[in-house]
Amino acid sequence: MSHTVESMSTATTGGGPGLPQERRLVTEIPGPRSREMFARKQSAVPAGIGTTLPVFVTHAGGGVVVDADGNSLIDFGSGIAVTNVGNAAPRVVERVSRQVADFTHTCFMVTPYESYVEVCEKLNELTPGDHEKRTFLVNSGAEAVENAVKVARHATGRQAVVVFDHGYHGRTLLTMTLTAKNMPYKHRFGPFAPEVYRAPLAYPFRWPTGPDNCADEAAAQTIEMIDKQIGAENVAAVVIEPIAGEGGFIVPARGFLPKIVEFCRANGIVFIADEVQTGFARTGDLFACADEGIVPDIICTAKGIAGGLPLAAVTGRADLLDAVHVGGLGGTYGGNPLACEAALGVLETIEQDGLVERARHIGEIMLPRLRAIQERTPIVGDVRGRGAMIAVELVTPGTGEPYPAAEIARRCHAEGLLVLTAGTYGNVLRFLPPLVIPDHLLNEGLTILEKVLSEV
Ligand SMILES: Cc1ncc(COP(=O)(O)O)c(C=O)c1O
Repeated sequence: MSHTVESMSTATTGGGPGLPQERRLVTEIPGPRSREMFARKQSAVPAGIGTTLPVFVTHAGGGVVVDADGNSLIDFGSGIAVTNVGNAAPRVVERVSRQVADFTHTCFMVTPYESYVEVCEKLNELTPGDHEKRTFLVNSGAEAVENAVKVARHATGRQAVVVFDHGYHGRTLLTMTLTAKNMPYKHRFGPFAPEVYRAPLAYPFRWPTGPDNCADEAAAQTIEMIDKQIGAENVAAVVIEPIAGEGGFIVPARGFLPKIVEFCRANGIVFIADEVQTGFARTGDLFACADEGIVPDIICTAKGIAGGLPLAAVTGRADLLDAVHVGGLGGTYGGNPLACEAALGVLETIEQDGLVERARHIGEIMLPRLRAIQERTPIVGDVRGRGAMIAVELVTPGTGEPYPAAEIARRCHAEGLLVLTAGTYGNVLRFLPPLVIPDHLLNEGLTILEKVLSEV
């Protein structure tokens, strides 16, 4: 049985910002059409592909996602930090539509095209640091991180890679190995890649001796681990997210990242910033590293780069990236022309619509309201994040033990608010609204959240 978009949807407009910016519930969530399609999904797609909210989408744009039953949900997820410029953003739609009629693929390694080079030039210019850089394009965040490690190993002639507690870097063999959490990412998928070592992350809320000591102690423990267990001269790269995403939006204690960078510089270790989730204005800077003036040797980007088209990038010091022999990097689809046009549309939109400032504005609305909720609601243990990358960590009152976030997320979904969960302990609600969400939807979403949390 097949359904056309028209038969599945009651919406008459297209997607994008023209969609009515309203929460509208016309059925229970999920509604009958979504439930019907979910049953088909279960017969056709393996159970391993999970579903956060089983509504089937027909349109999305601005701050809403519209489902097949005609419900319009407030979007606090952006498809996991991807649609920073909004779904079907006009400049992205226009550029991609033009490109799709011209040509869809040649493979950049066979016969190149200008848009790929232009994306690379822009990333070389916009990423932190004014040193000479190179960029190459791949398809996913995992592929970017995996390639960054390849480059670092090749350029240094060393093998070891240091990663951190609560880190998430992807689902390929190497990036799954770099990832900290067993369930669901690693469980029974071993054996893992060799020469990966894990260090403590400066996690202020859960640091045993308190947040004030966190940066210094975590950095000292990391450096001691490297010196004693690996030997700094054997370490090719340190890979870290400037704000840990899947791990629970953990903002490392101030001072931790600069100390790690300093140690890397002193020991010829390549510092790789995984900005797959934090990049492209999400945190109120174009890249999160800017907050503490961090200049990575290599920066990995994806997600928000192309408004939903699959694209990722490895940008770094020219001497490192140029060290690799011809043909050592690449892939069939990396830097597909449609995705490159989308990326150029995203970068124009961020700049021309002031989305870095808009992300800060979102944080300025969200953080005070969430902190006020925290004061009245004992299960809210911590409120943290920057810009439009904000989370609350839930705890059991009295004990401080992690309190599961999934049921609370489900109740938000039932009210028409799409939120995501995260955290090593599954006790974090994370908020990643599109940067173009109107204020009234942001505030309405926070009011729903407050109601749900106060009922727990
Ligand atoms: C920090 C970080 N790195 C890497 C990845 C992997 O990206 P992808 O799912 O595009 O492979 C993710 C995805 O969530 C991420 O958040």
